[in-house]
Amino acid sequence: MPILTGHARLAGIIGWPVAHSRSPRLHGFWLERHGIDGAYVPLAIRPEHFATAVRGLMEAGFAGANVTIPHKRAAFALCDSVDPSARHAGAVNTLMFREGKIAGSNTDGWGFLANLRAHGVDPAAGPALILGAGGAARAVAAALLETGIPVTIANRTPEHADALAHDLPSLRTIPWHRRGEALPDQALLVNATSLGMQGHPPLELDLARAAPTLAVADIVYVPLQTPLLAAAAAHGLRSVEGLGMLLYQAVPGFRVWFGVEPQVDEALRRFVAADLLPG
Ligand code: ATR
Repeated sequence: MPILTGHARLAGIIGWPVAHSRSPRLHGFWLERHGIDGAYVPLAIRPEHFATAVRGLMEAGFAGANVTIPHKRAAFALCDSVDPSARHAGAVNTLMFREGKIAGSNTDGWGFLANLRAHGVDPAAGPALILGAGGAARAVAAALLETGIPVTIANRTPEHADALAHDLPSLRTIPWHRRGEALPDQALLVNATSLGMQGHPPLELDLARAAPTLAVADIVYVPLQTPLLAAAAAHGLRSVEGLGMLLYQAVPGFRVWFGVEPQVDEALRRFVAADLLPG
């Protein structure tokens, strides 16, 4: 941790709990790489204190903050202004404080697309099937629809998928048990459920039906290679690991708060991944 001056720029991540967050490690890497007089800290804030705490951070001179579970919707409601990414996702993960006002953005969808492109996958190549209807699925669906491709969602609880389709009218929904049947028509498959995460059951889906051009993306990054991504590789399909989405979603906030455009590269990936290994 470098020694800060009285001019240090401050940002952090607000969550409850927040101890699991890798964002301080990620931003800390960039702060050190660029020798920035600044800090990015974990901020464990209870839901009932969220609004007071955010205003307090702004009063205390913070440049802004990231917001994670369970605060992303509360952050949306609290903002004085939000950009289209936040409006489409109905949630905010990046706050910017300017002249006593709170501006909100949602960089999850942008991070997802940037990660696809970094893996050589064109998000606009063709239809996409998203599994899941939680906050991550919502941001990914909104970002993919923006590229103009047809997007279909399958979720275990149909009401959750319907709620998403209500907010994103061009989104198609199919029953969870039809996900395999829909696979042959897709250019992109995205797992936005918690299936495949350490301690959770794997996603059941037979990739043998997929077109050979299918790209398979997982938003789960613990483990880095999920059973789904391993199956994709075994079938000779392109796979996109979830960690990159976490790395890229951090870029816009860092740029605004600390005034430097940070790079997502292998050194950063390795540094963050080293903290994900079991043990
Ligand atoms: P996030 O906001 O991070 O996306 P979430 O809101 O908890 O997380 O969403 C988790 C997703 O995984 C949901 O789509 C959930 O499906 P439901 O809407 O039916 O709850 C999905 N999910 C979790 N466990 C699942 C399981 N065993 N089978 C199928 N889907 C599952």
